[in-house]
Amino acid sequence: MREVAYGGEKLLLIGGESHKTGQGECTIAHYETLRRFAEDTFGVEEIRYRWSTHDLVTLDNMPYIGLAREGTPNLLVATGYRKWGMTTSAVAGRLLTDLLIGRDNPYAELFGPSRFQPDPDMGTLAKETADVAYRFVKGKLEWLKKDPEELGLDEGAAVRIHGRRCGAYRDHEGKLHVVDTTCTHMGCETEWNAGDRTWDCPCHGSRFTFDGEVMHGPAKKPLERL
Ligand code: FES
Repeated sequence: MREVAYGGEKLLLIGGESHKTGQGECTIAHYETLRRFAEDTFGVEEIRYRWSTHDLVTLDNMPYIGLAREGTPNLLVATGYRKWGMTTSAVAGRLLTDLLIGRDNPYAELFGPSRFQPDPDMGTLAKETADVAYRFVKGKLEWLKKDPEELGLDEGAAVRIHGRRCGAYRDHEGKLHVVDTTCTHMGCETEWNAGDRTWDCPCHGSRFTFDGEVMHGPAKKPLERL
């Protein structure tokens, strides 16, 4: 939580309610929890903006900062900040500068992207891999009852049309937008995010607008419009 100057006013920025993209309870429930916290704790009367953002987390929860891999001296990365971007980007600036000018930095090994600690990384890796497999299969087998014609204004859902799993969203003007919910990254089924009106992939976190455009990778191609 912190203050932000915006348009000549001071706003309160409140974050929280971490969850995996496309998994767990409805995003609106997360926004509601934050709203209640803002009201109860600070007496906030109006929520001006709200949004969900991606936050990359590495297997051992430490950012990757340094050479992307051995043998490519011109390829440097800084990622996996786990919500500590304002602090860790300063660390990254110092560390990458040292790498570029060939100066020793005591943190180079700690943040090195090519580090791999077998324990607990192996357990985390196995768990993440199993989770992706589970989400992949679950999306394919899910029984969908909703008919697109039942959708009200500003409502979206995964529906079945002629036996095919599709994603439908009816906008404020009543126009129906239908996409193929299969993620263009590796084929998992995206889920409707009612809080942000997006299609979110539970496998690796790609996000698409209600009409299929890519908002966040790793997917590069839009969802197919139907
Ligand atoms: S399958 Fe959707 S992000 Fe990988």
